[in-house]
Formats: sequence, structure tokens, C-alpha cells
Amino acid sequence: MANLLNGRVLAKKLNQGTVKVEAAKLARKPGLAVVLVGEDAASKVYVGRKTLVASRVGFEHQQITLPVETSQAELLSVIAGLNADDAVDGILVQLPLPKHIDGTFVLDTIAPEKDVDGFHPVNAGLLAQGRPRFVACTPKGVMELLRDADLSLSGKSAVVVGRSNIVGRPMAQLLEQANCTVTVCHSRTTDLEARVRAADVLVVAIGRPKAIVGDWVKPGAIVVDVGINRLDDGSLCGDVDFEGAVDKAGWITPVPGGVGPMTIAMLMANTLASAQARQA
Ligand code: GUN
Repeated sequence: MANLLNGRVLAKKLNQGTVKVEAAKLARKPGLAVVLVGEDAASKVYVGRKTLVASRVGFEHQQITLPVETSQAELLSVIAGLNADDAVDGILVQLPLPKHIDGTFVLDTIAPEKDVDGFHPVNAGLLAQGRPRFVACTPKGVMELLRDADLSLSGKSAVVVGRSNIVGRPMAQLLEQANCTVTVCHSRTTDLEARVRAADVLVVAIGRPKAIVGDWVKPGAIVVDVGINRLDDGSLCGDVDFEGAVDKAGWITPVPGGVGPMTIAMLMANTLASAQARQA
């Protein structure tokens, strides 16, 4: 039976520890602005959690909720206002955006020094070069989970399933920078099973319920499941078949309660870092 990587416990420790304590030392509270466009049900839940945690750690926060028919020009003007607002240290535009909006174009207009999601090409580029500033919250949270459990990564074979800019790509870069030998798998990968079977460290972020068969997991492997999928019966499951994997893995994240809370904790950590830099 694997050890659990409990993100709920670690996130609470980080939020209520360092983040809250350091935030209280600042002359001006860290300020986080969260922008939600449209009615996506999952996005509403995530945005609600982000602002709730921001209030718990003592940040100023605002949620800007815009109707689904908001034009790209209107959204750009909201972001320009937040860029110019000195009380705002972090700007997060929740994804996905409605189809008529060019998300890449919009995210590129967020001031890089307020880009607490780490999605701006300047921040993505700094990470790619091994000199990170703001690192995307989910992969950063995964690294914190592994660090907290004292798991050594150097020399290990890591397999990242998924190559998104939000998770897979930065995740692979962080694992490589921690001296893993990294393989990135995606929808065109041949023989996913064989690659998963070789993984000492497996991170899965594809958004497909139970796509990774438990039996594929290498005995003793570290398994990190980034997926949060809602099944027809309303229950949540990850991208890994947890019941099948838990007896083979050495360490595994539960869903929910694994990576999810860590993503939000890293958003708070990034916002604090931005506030500290901007007040220095
Ligand atoms: N949608 C799914 N994950 C994320 C995230 O980390 N940040 C934002 N802004 N949107 C998301």
C-alpha cells in the first residue's frame, strides 16, 4: 500500500504558516485579482476557492466576474486597469476563456511582474532557461509535495503524461532541473503503457478519467495525478486508476486532496513573492 502525498495537509501548513506570517509583515497586504469570464461550472468553483484561501491568508482580493459575451477588447481593458493598479500584486485570468476570445493574446498582456500564474512567455521562458521567477502553480505545487515528502529525484526516470503550457511542459522542465531524466508523453505517443511502466516518477495531466491503468505503475514508483474529472455519478476521479495503482506505487496523490490544494497554495506563494518584490 503506497504512502499518500497529502496536498490538503501540506497546503494548509504552507498557507497558515509562511504565507500568512510573511504577508502580515508587509506594510501593504498582498493584493490578488481574479478574473472570471463566463459561466463554466468548474471554473466558478476554482475561482471561489482561490478567493476564499486569499482571504484566509490575509490578502486583499477581488473577483471580477464578466459575462460570457464580454468582448476581447473589454477584457483587455480590465487587465490594463489591473496592470496599472498599484494595490494589485497578482493577476489571474481563469482558463478556459470563451471561444471568441484569443486566450494567448489576452494572457500576453498581463504585466509579467504580476503574472502569478506563470503563463506569460517571459516567465515561461525564464523557467525554460532554469532561472525561474513565477512558476505555474500546479507544477510548482507538485515539486513542493515531493520536496516535503523528502523524495529524492536525482537520476530518476520521470514520465510526464501531457504537454500543456499549464502543467505538462513546465512540469517536465522542473523535473529535469531536479536532475530527473524526463520523457514527455502525449496523444501521439506510441506504447504509453511501456513508457509508464519504466517511470520511477509519473506525473499525469491529461484530463481523462482513469486513463492510466493501475497495473502499469512500476512497483515503488512516485505517482502524481493532476487530473480532476467528474464522473456521471457526480464523483471525482483522477487520470490514474487510483484503486489499481495504490498497491503498486510507493507514493501516490489522492484525488481530490492531492495536487489541487497545492495549486492554490502556490498561487498564494507567488502572490506573496510578487508583493514582497513590489514593496522592496
Ligand atoms: N485553469 C485550469 N488551471 C488553471 C490555472 O492554474 N490557472 C488559471 N488561470 N486557469 C486555470
